[in-house]
Amino acid sequence: MEQYAVKGGNPLVGEVEIGGAKNAALGILAAAIMTDDTCVIDNIPDVRDTNVMLQAIESIGAHVAKKDRHTCEISGRNIVDHTIDNDYIKKIRASYYLLGALLGKYKKARVSLPGGCNIGLRPIDQHIKGFKALGATVRIEHGMIVAEADSLRGAHIYLDVVSVGATINLMLASVMAEGTTILENAAKEPHVVDVANFLNTMGASIKGAGTDVIRIKGVQRLHGTNYTIIPDQIEAGTFMFAAALTKGDVTVKNVIPKHLESISAKLEELGCQVEESDDAVRVVATRQLNHTHVKTLPYPGFPTDMQPQITVALGLSKGTSIVTESIFENRFKYVDELTRMGASIKVEGNTAIIDGVSKYTGASISAPDLRAGAALVIAALAADGVTVIDDVRFIQRGYEDFHLKLQSLGGIIELVDSEKELQKFRLKTG
Ligand code: EPZ
Repeated sequence: MEQYAVKGGNPLVGEVEIGGAKNAALGILAAAIMTDDTCVIDNIPDVRDTNVMLQAIESIGAHVAKKDRHTCEISGRNIVDHTIDNDYIKKIRASYYLLGALLGKYKKARVSLPGGCNIGLRPIDQHIKGFKALGATVRIEHGMIVAEADSLRGAHIYLDVVSVGATINLMLASVMAEGTTILENAAKEPHVVDVANFLNTMGASIKGAGTDVIRIKGVQRLHGTNYTIIPDQIEAGTFMFAAALTKGDVTVKNVIPKHLESISAKLEELGCQVEESDDAVRVVATRQLNHTHVKTLPYPGFPTDMQPQITVALGLSKGTSIVTESIFENRFKYVDELTRMGASIKVEGNTAIIDGVSKYTGASISAPDLRAGAALVIAALAADGVTVIDDVRFIQRGYEDFHLKLQSLGGIIELVDSEKELQKFRLKTG
């Protein structure tokens, strides 16, 4: 089983190129099947989640041809099947975007019901409520969600919670409905806007994405397009925090600094220097971090997908910090692993109370999920000694070449696949 072996202590220094946004790509790849023409999509991150999504759309008959590592040609012309089975949904919850896409295009879809996951219960009641408002019948049959309609009609839908998934799914379902759909209390994340922009280049009429009211005027058909996915806000933020933890100097390149504002602001509170230019952000950290408090919130608030990364940084700060997780109820599972590295953190419900320590020490730990796994890697890069991280497959779901990018910044990290390789790493790194 693959593991990351990390020897901490080197400050990360240099420049790193950020890839395309995974969570935008997942919505866009699903949207691409909504036309029979060809879409050419560029800047798709080559990570496990996007590759599973490509397999899922291929499994129903869509044409999928990789042009290069990050570019793919997709056409929904030959789709024969409207069923996405459990194999895909088990691997990525976001295959439920194919519910909205298939329902919107063919007026029928059967997708396996997603279960719970490592970051807590994740209901999809808002997606279902929206599909019903558009005129679909939705039922659960043998573990599948079956959504069908004779026709879909625009509706006024008020989301009870701000949900990225429901906002994207309802844009997909309504984009070819008759009349206008208004989504109120919509999610404003950059990846929601990117999916809307992609649909608009396919001929959709979506206005207001990025605000909390989105207006979708149904069109009769969508056409092919060429599109480049936006940079990944969370990959960028993870490298920015890696600089902070290791007292490094890292420039994240190919980013949209506006998308990183809540992250940059917190790094400044922690005592880091943050310099923005047109498409890059540089983070310089020279001394022990300050403590602070943070609460995760929908965009433009501090992202829940950056909560583990800021927590591992605050674990090494001066004083006591409080982190409140307001989006998912079970996103502190990694704290037990961090405690094995010497952190002093008490979790009460959705709050972590962190007493900063002066150092972490290397240990054998496991990545419990994608973002927590990445956060543990950056904690390991700041720790004394060697850390071995299991279950790296979670990290590979969303970070392309994570260890190679960290190596290029001077991090001592290797992907090892056997006890022998691990021993070699230990010998080599002393
Ligand atoms: C998206 O998940 C992201 N995934 C997650 O990123 C991210 O953590 C999350 O948004 C929040 O930003 C993708 O984009 C593929 P939500 P999603 O619907 O859409 C509740 C990562 O690490 N809710 O915005 O599933 C829900 O329980 C991943 O890249 C309902 O109650 O999240 C949660 O408390 C992990 N009913 C809140 O809303 C619903 O019908 C926000 O969830 C839908 C959601």
